[in-house]
Amino acid sequence: MGDKLEKVLLSEEDIRAGIARLAAAVDADYDGEELLLVGVLNGALMVMADLSRALHNPITLDWMAISSYGAGTKSSGVVRILKDLDTDIKGKHVLVVEDIIDSGLTLSWLLSNLRQRQPASLEVCTLLRKPDAAKVQIDVKYVGFDIPNDFVVGYGLDYDQRFRNLPFIGLLAPHVYS
Ligand code: XMP
Ligand code: MG
Repeated sequence: MGDKLEKVLLSEEDIRAGIARLAAAVDADYDGEELLLVGVLNGALMVMADLSRALHNPITLDWMAISSYGAGTKSSGVVRILKDLDTDIKGKHVLVVEDIIDSGLTLSWLLSNLRQRQPASLEVCTLLRKPDAAKVQIDVKYVGFDIPNDFVVGYGLDYDQRFRNLPFIGLLAPHVYS
């Protein structure tokens, strides 16, 4: 890691506590319902793995891969589906699982795409949100942590595909991307 990270923003313990809070809220809200978790690859990998194991209600999992970022740190606003769902979500209770909501552009595109498939319900659970970066207003039912508008890596989040395997979330040193 060396000088690539400025500091640890959320420790493993912080993340574990945040996931437990999210799971308790989701379990309470979907009690008695079967829920489909839709993970957004690749960033949501760790959140999906840990959130799904913290839930007690029956769930199924599916994945979408979309691309909105190049190698840089700014949303391009252009979204492409790289991998679509394997599941037909019509009539199902769907919870989109995200690592981070930055401008919200990617998620807002994804939600309108999924809404056209007529799920019984559609909500969002994200580990991180950057309120100061929001460019579109999105109702997000489950938020783990609101964080400052800085580029973060670790726990699934990458810079140029690196750092995803860090067990904590750190602030990337500005000299790495400027
Ligand atoms: P938008 O701006 O569309 O972006 O809400 C959402 C996606 O952009 C990525 N993203 C980040 N990735 N550190 C990262 O490693 C960050 O600070 C960051 N901010 C946004 C991420 O893939 C997210 O799904
Ligand atoms: Mg992502």
